[in-house]
Amino acid sequence: MTTTTLVAPISLSNDLLTGAEWSPPHTRELLHLSADIKARPVRYASTLHGKFIALIFEKPSLRTRVTFEVGIQSMAGAVVFLDHTQASASLGARESIADVARNLDRWVHGIVARVYSQRVLEEMAVNAGIPVINALSDKFHPCQALADFFTLEERFGALRGFKLAYVGDGNNVCHSLMYLAARLGVHLRIATPPDYAPAPEVIADSKRVARETKAKIELMHDPREAVTGAMGVYTDSWTSMGFEAEEAVRNQVFQPYQVNTELMSLATSDAVFMHCLPAHRGLEVTPEVLDGPQSVVLDQSENRMYVQKAILHTLF
Ligand code: CP
Ligand code: NVA
Repeated sequence: MTTTTLVAPISLSNDLLTGAEWSPPHTRELLHLSADIKARPVRYASTLHGKFIALIFEKPSLRTRVTFEVGIQSMAGAVVFLDHTQASASLGARESIADVARNLDRWVHGIVARVYSQRVLEEMAVNAGIPVINALSDKFHPCQALADFFTLEERFGALRGFKLAYVGDGNNVCHSLMYLAARLGVHLRIATPPDYAPAPEVIADSKRVARETKAKIELMHDPREAVTGAMGVYTDSWTSMGFEAEEAVRNQVFQPYQVNTELMSLATSDAVFMHCLPAHRGLEVTPEVLDGPQSVVLDQSENRMYVQKAILHTLF
């Protein structure tokens, strides 16, 4: 019988801010490690023994907060939750982000932060020597995208050439899916309204990496074109946290991008429906699709835990 010894992927950076930090082989190794953690959790039960991790949240969360808290404690670590969701306790108001980071650096072993601005994470990372992990910002959601590709790999096997359609807003989740798709050799077709395309610098980096890995990142505006022949169909809220003032306009602009049974019928017959959640039934997805047999949204949610444990195992 052969046994595999898993070595944690070596990261060039000790932070996870975007999803672009790791090379393609290290990204694949992280998914491999996630699978081992899922299969043999006991093996990792003391990975974080004696480690304290600060969770800083400026926005609400169900999945990210619970999976980090449970994941850290299941590896014998401890969590300090810093609630900055109320305007009266806004991050950076009482003292600068740099000072917050420099202080935390003296007491805890890592920071997991959900923030309005990616710049806040960058400032924390510059001012704290301890690892900083992005738990969602305006620009990126790397833990989500890693869990999503882990979910696909678990179900379909190797991801090289896997055809995934992303339909809707070129937002934080879309950006991290692009970085990870490029690194994992995935064929990602993104359909957004013209004014809601992903950021040019994310497109440029993903296409550059895709040339090396034989991944494909295609951008378009027609959801039907993106979904035709896809093995996975992904959507996210039309109005992300922080963009609530634009909700009425967005609900109109994005209407043709709703994922419904008619759109799903253009994908392959065994295609899966994906959403990072929370979902809005009747807006970006119909209840039939979200709650139907093709939906893997709860697998995605469950897998956040294993992927984040793998991230922590790698960075600590
Ligand atoms: N998908 C996700 O990050 O969910 P929460 O906002 O509940 O953390
Ligand atoms: N794009 C969404 C994801 C929520 C998990 C948002 O930023 O609100």
